[in-house]
Amino acid sequence: MLKIMPLDVSKDKAETLVIPVCEDRSIYDDKRIEALVRKAGKMVEFSGEKKQKITFFSPGGIRADRAILIGMGKASGLDREGLRAAAGRGVRTALAGRLPRVCFCVPSEKKTGMPLADILEALMEGAFLANHVLDTYKQEKKTKRLEEITMLVPPGRETEFSDLPVKVEAVCGGTLLARQWVNTPANLKSPATFAEEIALTAGREKLKVTILDEKTLSRKKFGAILAVAAGSESKPRLVVLEYAPEKAKKTIALVGKGVTFDSGGINLKPSASMDTMKTDMAGAAAVAAVLIAAARLKPDLNIVGVLPLVENMPSGKALRPGDIVTAYGGKSIEVGNTDAEGRLILADSMAYAVKTYKPDMMVDIATLTGACLVALGEKIAGVFSNDDGLAGAIVAAGKRTFERCWRLPLVEDYRELIKSELADINNMSSSKGGGAITAAMFLSEFTGEVPWAHIDIAGPARNGKATDYCPVGGSGFGVRLLWEVLENS
Ligand code: BES
Ligand code: MN
Ligand code: ZN
Repeated sequence: MLKIMPLDVSKDKAETLVIPVCEDRSIYDDKRIEALVRKAGKMVEFSGEKKQKITFFSPGGIRADRAILIGMGKASGLDREGLRAAAGRGVRTALAGRLPRVCFCVPSEKKTGMPLADILEALMEGAFLANHVLDTYKQEKKTKRLEEITMLVPPGRETEFSDLPVKVEAVCGGTLLARQWVNTPANLKSPATFAEEIALTAGREKLKVTILDEKTLSRKKFGAILAVAAGSESKPRLVVLEYAPEKAKKTIALVGKGVTFDSGGINLKPSASMDTMKTDMAGAAAVAAVLIAAARLKPDLNIVGVLPLVENMPSGKALRPGDIVTAYGGKSIEVGNTDAEGRLILADSMAYAVKTYKPDMMVDIATLTGACLVALGEKIAGVFSNDDGLAGAIVAAGKRTFERCWRLPLVEDYRELIKSELADINNMSSSKGGGAITAAMFLSEFTGEVPWAHIDIAGPARNGKATDYCPVGGSGFGVRLLWEVLENS
């Protein structure tokens, strides 16, 4: 689907050219493209500002049926995200025009001051991610996805980047997969069907898949997962995905919260907070998708994904506030609030991952707290860690992928807030403040000595408003981020 080709716009013919341009100066080496950009600049409706676009049909000097110019603003402010967004706008324009394929003119390395590999990668990411249409549940499929997106590079340089399309398709394909899973409504996404769906997709990539059902979970004493699932007609599952290449030395455990619907349980959520709670499995979706991407790209690392899948519902069989449950490994937990279910299922899963795989490092990702959403908003994830190096690596990865992460503190004196009179620990803080921190402190009780980080994606898991390369709904946040962390560790 993604391709890199050499092209001389004066000789080779393209159906549709997309040309990202800056408002204040030329970023192309090719004289003919420069001439077209100058011509566009003379039109009142186009100056190259961000969000502007203009289409020329049969442009002179260039062998193309049409050229779509996309404004990116000032050249000095141009970065990878600006390129991703511009590519996204180009693809969305093509989708709206029902075009089957597009070719991108790739800005010059010299004139932008960015390495060609970075320019290409960013354009491919934005284009690939924007090529996403939300029509799974519509009877009429109005818009067809583009079949082909080609990057045009100066002749002779096409072979340097031959690995790039494969990588971007695998990783961004993971993002699209995660979006699709998040967008699946809860009535079509019980823990059992979601587990099957993951197994099917992961099996195709030759990952080892193990699904623990309710009976096995009960025999192995996953008390917290079973407690959260008790109120639902749908039985829980624990999905374990393993990627284990022969020579790998390090093992990384990834744990993802997979609540297929979070009603709050007996501590029922108010309607407005419940609307989007099919999103509460976005952590599990991101972990499954990144393992599938890894199976395709084959890094030299052992990676294990642990995905607790449950539905949190109220009923006569549901977990009650005040109940005491025993997590995997033996710690007892007093349930101060049934709506703090994410930390319960993660407690079992992290204790299991630590004991079974003795990982060199562990990362969990979860739509864990409304408090994190309040603190950092819809676009930024919270990061908590017992390891400065790992926290730094995650924040740095987020800068590159533009899945922004901000480290928040874990402070020992807050541990008091999750003490219980009766049990080893309480899942609810005794204080109103710092809810994202106390949730992370709770998780830290189940990590043993392993270097660990927790990523709270309560905000960014969902896109409230369509952006240049992501529609409304599941964002797939975390897939590109985790891949970047894996690739650099
Ligand atoms: N799934 C929610 C957190 C959430 C809120 C995610 C908003 C996305 C958007 C989580 O299970 C939850 O309900 N957390 C409670 C914890 C509280 C009861 C201690 C919360 O944040 O209110
Ligand atoms: Mn909840
Ligand atoms: Zn939840």
